[in-house]
Amino acid sequence: MSESRLQARVGTLRQLEILLAVYHHGSISEAARQLHLTQPTVSMQLRKLSDGMSMPLYYQVGRQLQLTEAGHAAVKTAIEVQGCFERLDMKLAGLQGLTTGTLNLAIVTTAKYFIPHLIGDFSRKFPQIDGRFHVGNRQQIIKRLRSGEEDFYVFSHPPESDALEMMELLPNRLQAIAPLDHVLAQRAEQGVIPLIEFCQAPFLMREEGSGTRHAIEMHLAKQGLQLNIRMTIESNEAIKHSVMSGLGVSILSEHTLAFGERQGLAVLDVDHLPIISHWYLAWLKDKPLSPVAAAFLNYIKQSGREQIMAGLDRRKFEFEQTEQDKA
Ligand code: PGA
Repeated sequence: MSESRLQARVGTLRQLEILLAVYHHGSISEAARQLHLTQPTVSMQLRKLSDGMSMPLYYQVGRQLQLTEAGHAAVKTAIEVQGCFERLDMKLAGLQGLTTGTLNLAIVTTAKYFIPHLIGDFSRKFPQIDGRFHVGNRQQIIKRLRSGEEDFYVFSHPPESDALEMMELLPNRLQAIAPLDHVLAQRAEQGVIPLIEFCQAPFLMREEGSGTRHAIEMHLAKQGLQLNIRMTIESNEAIKHSVMSGLGVSILSEHTLAFGERQGLAVLDVDHLPIISHWYLAWLKDKPLSPVAAAFLNYIKQSGREQIMAGLDRRKFEFEQTEQDKA
């Protein structure tokens, strides 16, 4: 076999896996953390891969890592190679007549409050199945969807695409919140707060790329209103705590508010709010479902929604009990 062929020069599948991790996590340090490797190991493996391809695969802009055109081409191939192995895995599992393997999900941040209830019940029914789920904001999950690595994606604002199949899971209400001692919270007895008044209060907003932000912006644009954004914060929990500490008001999913600390937080009755959306399970039409993915879809169709609701109710009940015990 001639050594001039690329496949002979390129090192190992592990190098492609490392390249994919760097692509998904945007930095060598995060990829190293996720893969339980040291940063020098990741850099060295990437260097070997670049050498094998005789072209640089990435460059640094400050602390940001950017892929070159060759890097993007290598990522595309790495995804295809990974897909081939997944199909082989599926085939082997099918030949063995087993539902074993890994269920891969990518979910937006707010979905992390209910997806574990689903996975918990599903894995009790199918103990041989492992789960792996990636959490990110809407934009990050759309990026993963484009590379089609996971079996399923959970969004409340899925991108419009003919390539997707979708199933509605449950409603997601985005509610207005303020610190308890905020003037808007104090005047609750006087009736519904006009949206225009809420928009004037200093607002804590999620980052660009967030589905929550996308929903808020679309809703307010329909009303012809704009927010008075005071601060951009990349996490629902951090926004909740910032509101509690008096930094401003916000709009967050009810699931974020239902659990965890919320002392000093008021949910406001504002005109034209809450924003009502839904959670969707999405998957790629053209990607064959693995036996594991098919079992999961079947499970969701049969009892998934009830499990989510029961899990959320149980969790809410336990949480309220603990709060009452503390009081
Ligand atoms: P995000 O998720 O705000 O974390 O992106 C919520 C959504 O997609 O609605």
